[in-house]
Amino acid sequence: MRINIPPQVEFVIQKLTAMGYEAYLVGGCVRDSVLGLNPNDWDITTSALPDEIKSALSDCKLIEAGVKHGTITALIDQVPVEVTTYRVDGKYSDNRHPDDVRFTRSLKEDLARRDFTINALAYNHSDGIIDCFGGAEDILNKQIRCVGEPTLRFQEDGLRILRALRFSSVLSFIIEKNTSASILKSGGLLDNIARERINCEFTKLLCGKKAENVLRDYRSVIEQFLPEISPMAGFEQHNPYHIYDVWEHTLKSVGTIEATPVLRLTMLLHDIGKPYCYTQDGKGIGHFYGHGEKSTEMTKKILSRLKYDGVTIETVTELVKLHDLPLSPEEKLIRHRLNQLGQNKLRLLLKVKAADAKAQNPIYGGRLGELHEIEAVVDDIIARSLCFSLKDLQVDGADIISLGIPQGPQIGRILSTLLDAVIDGKCKNQFNDLMSYAQAMKDSKL
Ligand code: CTP
Repeated sequence: MRINIPPQVEFVIQKLTAMGYEAYLVGGCVRDSVLGLNPNDWDITTSALPDEIKSALSDCKLIEAGVKHGTITALIDQVPVEVTTYRVDGKYSDNRHPDDVRFTRSLKEDLARRDFTINALAYNHSDGIIDCFGGAEDILNKQIRCVGEPTLRFQEDGLRILRALRFSSVLSFIIEKNTSASILKSGGLLDNIARERINCEFTKLLCGKKAENVLRDYRSVIEQFLPEISPMAGFEQHNPYHIYDVWEHTLKSVGTIEATPVLRLTMLLHDIGKPYCYTQDGKGIGHFYGHGEKSTEMTKKILSRLKYDGVTIETVTELVKLHDLPLSPEEKLIRHRLNQLGQNKLRLLLKVKAADAKAQNPIYGGRLGELHEIEAVVDDIIARSLCFSLKDLQVDGADIISLGIPQGPQIGRILSTLLDAVIDGKCKNQFNDLMSYAQAMKDSKL
């Protein structure tokens, strides 16, 4: 096959080969090209030592921040191209760089130190694909397999355990038997991995097509950094709305919702507090009163511990808190909810509720129909530009002050009351009507 290499990257390969060195594309860009996907970045591996790379590319702007690991970044037409000397690694402490390295002139040695066969392919136009470990066949067979002895690969860098699960989830690949057995045995290695690195791989895993299956098959691995999921597994709900235990319901809801980090995290965590809130009534029906608050509290702690950013923590925590908020397709109620949550969050909440409903007993599928009706009501409110927030009101704070009401918190309260009156159909959203309504409020005590 012929890979379509960006001209800036091909320029660097040509420069190095013209000086007599070997130079190949390697890693994720070859894997993704073989799969017909667009690579995220293009890495070059070369037999040239760092000083030799520098002299071969002496007429280019070079960044030498990674030079002690053999990596030099050339800026070609502002495009960064990473070139790394063939190397044999020591232990990895971050995602990209081992703590100590030994340079080598052997491409095979460089490929041998890589995590999975599908990531150990090299390519250039003259030699085509170089495949020393059966990576091309593994791509055909849709399988993740370690290069060499899996346990050693994982000991070198525990994050590779999560990378295997990520590739399996994102690419819909199975994990080969020995590699899988080693993953299930070596989960404890994740304890030494920085939370930021775990966050990055876990988020990709969660947004993959097969997240539901990977979470199910490798729960014990995920529990290494997310032990709070453990009590959900096998926790029966004893409730007619549910045909699955809490964990299976959670997995189904993750699998059914759109693949964004916020929505997938919300489904993963929305019922995490349930095992702590279980009661049974006289008829033997199970209830989980207060699980929304418990799940909210746990979600916030978990996401902070796993180093998610503030916006993700805030949005997911709020969606978890709201996931059981009563909604019905009534225009007034939905306008109040639009005011309370804003359009974006309300639409996210509808997706969360739909995923939650799809993972419940299908005989209550009517809930899904109602959610579609609610969505139609939201669309209609937006299309007709109906008033649902203070900024839509035809009066503002200055107008209320002009009635002789002193500045202060009461202005906000009056505006909120006016908005409620407009939404509830008690007052038209027109200047004169609103001013008379406000005047009447003033006269009657405020
Ligand atoms: N690699 C490895 N062990 C790691 C990380 C990376 O062996 N813990 C090797 C793999 O050969 C990988 C290459 O370094 O393909 C580049 O790593 P990186 O850019 O982090 O990931 P990619 O495999 O390129 O995947 P993606 O671009 O999807 O992140």
